[in-house]
Amino acid sequence: YGTQTIDGQGHLTIGGVDSVDLAKQYGTPLFVYDIQLFRDRAWAFQQTFEDAGIGYQVAYASKAFSSIAIYQVASQENLSLDVVSGGELYTAIKAGFPKEKIHFHGNNKSLDELRMAFDEQIGCIVVDNFHEIAQLKLLSEQLAKPMNILLRVTPGIEAHTHDYITTGQEDSKFGFDLNNGQADLAFKETYQHEYLAVLGLHCHIGSQIFDTAAFRMAAEKLVAKMAGWQEEFGYRCTVLNLGGGFGIRYTEEDQPLEPAEYVKEMIGTVKEVSVNSGFTVPEIWIEPGRSLVGDAGTTLYTVGSMKEVPNVRKYIAVDGGMSDNIRPALYGAAYSSAIANKAGHALTETYTVAGKCCESGDKLIERAELPQAESGDILAVFCTGAYGYSMASNYNRLARPAVVFAENGEHQLAVRRETHEDIVRLDLDYGIKAGHE
Ligand code: LLP
Repeated sequence: YGTQTIDGQGHLTIGGVDSVDLAKQYGTPLFVYDIQLFRDRAWAFQQTFEDAGIGYQVAYASKAFSSIAIYQVASQENLSLDVVSGGELYTAIKAGFPKEKIHFHGNNKSLDELRMAFDEQIGCIVVDNFHEIAQLKLLSEQLAKPMNILLRVTPGIEAHTHDYITTGQEDSKFGFDLNNGQADLAFKETYQHEYLAVLGLHCHIGSQIFDTAAFRMAAEKLVAKMAGWQEEFGYRCTVLNLGGGFGIRYTEEDQPLEPAEYVKEMIGTVKEVSVNSGFTVPEIWIEPGRSLVGDAGTTLYTVGSMKEVPNVRKYIAVDGGMSDNIRPALYGAAYSSAIANKAGHALTETYTVAGKCCESGDKLIERAELPQAESGDILAVFCTGAYGYSMASNYNRLARPAVVFAENGEHQLAVRRETHEDIVRLDLDYGIKAGHE
């Protein structure tokens, strides 16, 4: 998983750094990102477009992991950025991310959020619904400021891992339906507007997708729609954004393609359909989140208590859990792990890895094949880089972990660990302080 290796002491290394040393220095639970891996992934996506000689933007879908430091790495790698809230946009501005490469998503952007996008003159807003169109018209006219927009559509294709389903009409909270006239209406309402510039269409058909068929089908449908509009209205859309969703390998059961393979298939389809319908090949934009940061991230925990339920299972409990990784509890997501200080030892035991939250369902891994564990061991859970920290909470008033970036044998704190003081920073007294008298 990622680029971990084992060093001379039998310790797992991440980004060339001894993970056991990291755990000692920064404490646990700790997110460690192998930043070179993120850079390699970013490069692979972009290189595929370069090789195909096609216009593109690769936007990092930062809901997967948002922080100033990762935005700065994304910027160094020439990525664009997908943000979905005022909070992510604010973080991007704070990070000094190039505003013209920021794309703003969301199905219910507030007026304040939209105003922020205009004030900062970001690259584009991905428009989700008719309410938003009305607000954008109003705002742009009031402010007399232009804005690029993409229209988000639901093409009636939903993909999950190996399966996809196609429907005439999609029951989704996102976007304009492509098949029932909504998308056409949204286009008619915007393409001639004085301040709004319709760049093209956007769709996102799912997450953790392994198969390329659904992407090809979506590309086909969206290009056909844009070609149709050109014929009917004489207006040429120049951008096709096909979203993210490229799958990664959490466990050995997952067999995704190389990330760039998905892109190759998309490019092939877009070129073919464009040429066949006499449409100029559009720029292709994508929005990978998980496939950029997922396997770059590892969580280090310290093993504390252990418990055996005779004839049933052995538990090992770690110092984090659903508060730093909600995915197993929420989606039944599976992860792989290793004992970082016993890398290379024989895997003689099967443990259930429990978190420390007060819920029976707070289990990170149902069946982890590991060496004999003992209290004090450092457990590494792999591929936690996407939707781990970003979905973390203070449930049970646990402090959010620190995040460290490791690269070329160096390491640096990217997000500091929360303290108890941080935990109460928003709380206000109500009456007298607790105590006697
Ligand atoms: N673009 C749009 C419009 C999206 O909604 C998403 C993810 C992405 C791009 C990035 O998708 P990715 O490449 O990361 O699959 N919390 C869930 C995943 C939710 C994904 C939401 N949208 C999880 O932990 O699996």
